[in-house]
Amino acid sequence: MKIMKKILIALALILVVIQFIRPAKNVGTVEDSKDITHTVTVAPNVQNILQKACNDCHSNHTEYPWYYNIQPVAWWLANHVKDGKRHLNFSEFNGYKTKRKLHKLKEIKEEVEDGEMPMDSYLWMHSNAKLTEAEKATLYKWVEESLVVVADTLK
Ligand code: HEC
Repeated sequence: MKIMKKILIALALILVVIQFIRPAKNVGTVEDSKDITHTVTVAPNVQNILQKACNDCHSNHTEYPWYYNIQPVAWWLANHVKDGKRHLNFSEFNGYKTKRKLHKLKEIKEEVEDGEMPMDSYLWMHSNAKLTEAEKATLYKWVEESLVVVADTLK
């Protein structure tokens, strides 16, 4: 029994201590020449979809939820953001090579079609990020149009 008490106290202490250790926030500059808006037109209705469902993990500007302030949640979130940005970053998109741009655009449609993105764990807390069929159609149309625009630059 004594040992259990010690373990519990140690765990409680660890929980308190980790509250003070936070990963850096993902908040970059707002205007960036590498942003995807410099590659293709992103109409407001498309931007709305990206903003509410993707940008928290795929851009340099995450809007943090209140529970970010509870550890170890922030580490878990930071990991998703880091991993998400590594795969696709709308804030850096214009800096990608043309082939990569085309590949990523295709993947956007594929991931959403397969229901892989936005991630399930994100939808638990962001129910409005669940895309409606109309929003998906808007996104796919934008992907198709963007593919044409980017492919044109190869000519
Ligand atoms: C909660 C964070 C999060 C959100 C929100 C999110 N993603 Fe992701 N996304 C990730 C992570 C992490 C990966 C990499 C690991 C994986 O593929 O599961 C990823 C991978 C991807 C990839 C694959 C890229 C590659 O190289 O394979 C695409 C495309 C993508 N996301 C598009 C989207 C789109 C479009 C949205 C919005 C509709 C979205 N994601 C929302 C975290 C997120």
